[in-house]
Amino acid sequence: MNDHELWRTELNKVISLEHMYHCPSCYAPLIKELTALSCEACKTNYPVSGEIPILLTPLLRSEGNPTDQVKQDIQQHYTQVSESLEKGQVSKYVTFLNYGYLPSANEQYSPLEIPQNTMSRNAVKLLFEVIGQADLEGKHILDVGCGRGGSIEILNRFFKPAMLVGLDITEASIRFNHNRNKFKHIHFCVGDAESLPFGNESFDVVLNIESSYAYPDMTEFYRQVDRVLKKGSHFLYGDILPVSKFEESARMLNQLGFETIRNQDISENILLSCDQSASRNAEAYGALDDAFMARLRESLCLPGSQIYSDLISGVKQFRIMNLLKA
Ligand SMILES: C[S@@+](CC[C@H](N)C(=O)[O-])C[C@H]1O[C@@H](n2cnc3c(N)ncnc32)[C@H](O)[C@@H]1O
Repeated sequence: MNDHELWRTELNKVISLEHMYHCPSCYAPLIKELTALSCEACKTNYPVSGEIPILLTPLLRSEGNPTDQVKQDIQQHYTQVSESLEKGQVSKYVTFLNYGYLPSANEQYSPLEIPQNTMSRNAVKLLFEVIGQADLEGKHILDVGCGRGGSIEILNRFFKPAMLVGLDITEASIRFNHNRNKFKHIHFCVGDAESLPFGNESFDVVLNIESSYAYPDMTEFYRQVDRVLKKGSHFLYGDILPVSKFEESARMLNQLGFETIRNQDISENILLSCDQSASRNAEAYGALDDAFMARLRESLCLPGSQIYSDLISGVKQFRIMNLLKA
C-alpha cells in the first residue's frame, strides 16, 4: 500500500455510513440498523437492499404525482438500458451513458491525454473536459446521476480523490456499480437529485453529467447542490438543454450565489462524437420493445434523432459549466 492509499484507508475509517447519509426528506443524519437506515427526526425508514441504501423519499415511492411519474419513467428506461446491455452481452464494458466529446477548434480545458487502449474514449474526454483544470486530489466528490459508474471509475484512476459517492435514481445501475466496486472509499446509493441524502456542506465537488435534463424541478436540484457543497468548492456541470433553459439556469445559479468560472457551448464537439460513435454504440444494445428502441435512439443522439436535429439547429445546446460556491 503506498502513502496515498494508506492515508485514504485511515480517512475512511472515520467516515462510516451513518455519518455520510442523511434523510432525503428532512436532512437529519440517518442511523444504521440491521436492514435499513432510519431517521429519528421524521421517523422514516430507508431500506438497504443487498448492501445498497435506497434513499428515495416516501413521496417518490408512492403513486399519483405527475412529477414522480417522470422519475418513474426514467427509472424504467434506465432499467431497460441495463437489461438491453445484458442481452447484447456487453454489459460489463458499457460504463458510460453520455454522448462523448471529440476535439474541434473549440477551446479545450483539460490538460490530460487519454492513454491508448482506454475504452469509451469520447466519454472519458467529455468527463475530462467537464473537469477541466479543477484539482480533485484529496477531495470528497459526489457524482449525481452517475449512471453505470464510468465517471467514478475514471475519477478514481486519474485524480486521487479521498472519497467518491455515486448517486442515481435507477437501482439497476447502482447495483451494477456496487457489484464492480472494489474500493472502500467509493460508495453508491439510490437517490434523487432533487432531495440529496447528505448533510449540508459535505462535499468539495459535485459532478453532474448529462442527467439534469431529466429533472422536473431543476431549481430544487441547484438548491440541493448549493446545500451539500462546502464554501469555496466547485459544481462541475455538463448537459444538453434548450437555450432558454440554460439562460434560466445561469440566472438561478447566480441568485444562489454561484460564481461562473466557465460556461462553454460544446455542442459541436458532442455532434462530432455522435457522428463518429453513436451508431456503433447502438450496436451494443440487444433489441427490446419498439418503444424502448425509439427512446434509445434519442438517448444515444443518433444522427436523424430529434435531439441530434435540435443540436444542429441550435434549439438545444450542450454546455459545460464550472461554478464556484463563493
Ligand atoms: C444519460 S445518463 C448519464 C449517466 C452518467 N452521468 C454518464 O455520464 O455516463 C443519465 C442518468 O441520470 C439518471 N437520473 C435521471 N433523473 C435522475 C434523478 N432525478 N436523480 C438521480 N439520477 C437521475 C438516470 O438514471 C441516468 O443514469
